[in-house]
Amino acid sequence: MASNNTELIEKILHFKRQRNAVILAHNYQLGEAQDIADFVGDSLELSQNAAKTDADVIVFCGVHFMAETASILCPDKIVLLPDIHAGCPMADMITTKSLREKKRELPGAAVVCYVNSSAEVKAESDICCTSANAVEVVESLDSEEILFVPDQYLGHYVSTKTDKKIVLWPGFCPTHVRIQPEDITRLKLEYPQAKAVVHPECRPEVIALADEVLSTGGMCRFAQNTEAKEIIVGTEIGIIHRLKKENPEKKFVPLSEQAICPTMKLINLEKMLRSLEEMAPEVKVPEETRLRAKVAVDRMLKVA
Ligand code: 13P
Ligand code: SF4
Repeated sequence: MASNNTELIEKILHFKRQRNAVILAHNYQLGEAQDIADFVGDSLELSQNAAKTDADVIVFCGVHFMAETASILCPDKIVLLPDIHAGCPMADMITTKSLREKKRELPGAAVVCYVNSSAEVKAESDICCTSANAVEVVESLDSEEILFVPDQYLGHYVSTKTDKKIVLWPGFCPTHVRIQPEDITRLKLEYPQAKAVVHPECRPEVIALADEVLSTGGMCRFAQNTEAKEIIVGTEIGIIHRLKKENPEKKFVPLSEQAICPTMKLINLEKMLRSLEEMAPEVKVPEETRLRAKVAVDRMLKVA
């Protein structure tokens, strides 16, 4: 297995050079994808990185909306998603049709869309946000009424940090809702010295018991800077790979072993190699949608 991986890694690095490609990986990716990536980060960091790369090809190890965001920001680059079935079920919980209907009901509301959404939904929104900047994005708007889509839990978390009226969309992350308040209560008893960090996609009852509410990039920075030696991690468990690698002397305890995002695990070394060899599957947002979606993404990047 190890020698197979060595061979695969060599071939990927060969094609990467030949294609002038960069490999970007989300913090939830398999360890093998994180380890070969040029950059590993959260959704905001990945889009900032895509926006400034001078590579010709971006191999996106993440899910479809992330590759779309890279395509929105870099129309003249080829964006490869090594498994085209790597989607985000939360992003599929809203359509442009249902969003347009809701906008008609709330003509005075500004639409803030979580980056976990399709390019079409971004194109229908006033501004985009990620878990790292959602509060700042909402606060940056003149409007006092905000339609927040599609994550009801991130939207609820934002509503606790602002005086603006937040109208929630009933979407959620099927992975983060598996984390229960009982998990955090039990682990805090077992590890009384530990700090508990959770993602804002978690249920409000879980967030209420946490020490910190952070994006995955925020969790990585927190782990490096905290005095705590034990950290309870309330998000998708793929992040533990990076946390352990960067902080070998600290202990990381997953809040729930059930918090696994199946689509984040679809990309592996074999698929990355095939993708670079065949220059497919490519994710390309149609120009008309891209231009409208880019307004929402650019507005966010100015706030971030
Ligand atoms: P961040 O990495 O931006 O915190 O987002 C988590 C997530 O669910 C991405 O799909
Ligand atoms: Fe979507 Fe949740 Fe998976 Fe993130 S962890 S990609 S929000 S399903």
